[in-house]
Amino acid sequence: MSKITAAITAVGGYVPPDILANADLEKMVDTTDEWITTRTGIKERHILKGENKGVTEMAIPAVKELMRKRGITPDEIDVIICATVTGDMIFPSSACVIADKIGAKNAWGFDLQAACSGFLFGLETGAKFIESGKYKKVLLIGGDKMSAIIDYTDRNTCIIFGDGAGCVLLEPDFNGYGVQDALLHIDGSGRHYLHQKAGGSQKPPTHQTVDAKEHFVFQDGKTVFKFAVTNMAQVSYEIMERNNLSADTVTWLVPHQANLRIIDATAERMGLSRDKIMINIEKYGNTTNGTLPLLLWEWEKKLKQGDNLIFSAFGGGFTWGSVYIKWAYNG
Ligand code: UT7
Repeated sequence: MSKITAAITAVGGYVPPDILANADLEKMVDTTDEWITTRTGIKERHILKGENKGVTEMAIPAVKELMRKRGITPDEIDVIICATVTGDMIFPSSACVIADKIGAKNAWGFDLQAACSGFLFGLETGAKFIESGKYKKVLLIGGDKMSAIIDYTDRNTCIIFGDGAGCVLLEPDFNGYGVQDALLHIDGSGRHYLHQKAGGSQKPPTHQTVDAKEHFVFQDGKTVFKFAVTNMAQVSYEIMERNNLSADTVTWLVPHQANLRIIDATAERMGLSRDKIMINIEKYGNTTNGTLPLLLWEWEKKLKQGDNLIFSAFGGGFTWGSVYIKWAYNG
């Protein structure tokens, strides 16, 4: 029998309707549209509004779209992996909530936490389940309600993040399409520069942690930028090299949307022109685990069977890496 590879066979996505534009942020903190645009490339982001709404509120419509497009029923799904840093609750996992809400009665699953690299780590994890031959349909969701953990008085972070979720279905392929290679890294010494201080077991929530705003994202932007720009570019170049790909044979770079300058530096190291890079940061900002599937969601129609896609991400931890996928179907 020929080798099993894990192919993406369907994509879904969802962004909430409410928009937070740079002009709105100008009224909230000491910033300008010009600063945000030139330093990050972001013009607006979508925000999930309303009481008692978590990340699964966005994941569910994305998954429903995916199932409709692929023509499958929820009971066909074997495994659900939800990559997020803003699960509905600390526990149970959002994968459990999603399984219940869509009626995936035969699935097991879990949440995966690797900050902005979560979807990438999920691709490698899900691919291994498929390649084992045991599982036929792995649903991988990447999404975050970043507005739940952002301090909208902190101009260092509130201009960057937005809310959104996307998902892909991984299925066995016998013609060599799908995940070809993955190069993933963690370096925990980077934890000091990008984190949420309180709410975990080291510092459970108290009145003091709330007063000190320790449940919001802390980022030392300059340091994270330096690591992100170097490592995302290097790992993307390495995966290209070790799979004998060139700037001509890479069809698309699918980069995490944290900062347009990081994306450009990565593409430059790979020798890619702008027309080969998926970019939607101007509309959505950084949706953390949502960025990569939301790019696929928008670009799906343009993709062709056999296209070489290099996914790349960098995030808190630090976590980073690249995944090489040979696209399986015409969009
Ligand atoms: O997705 C997870 C990984 N995260 C990332 O990859 C993010 C990486 N970091 C970044 O993208 C950038 O560092 C930021 C966009 C966060 C910041 O851009 P920067 O070019 O690194 O700015 P900076 O922090 O060096 O600040 C430059 C100046 C400072 O003023 P002074 O000290 O030069 O007078 C800041 O106080 O810009 C000031 N500043 C702002 N001004 C207007 C910082 N934030 C703002 C703001 N509006 N929102």
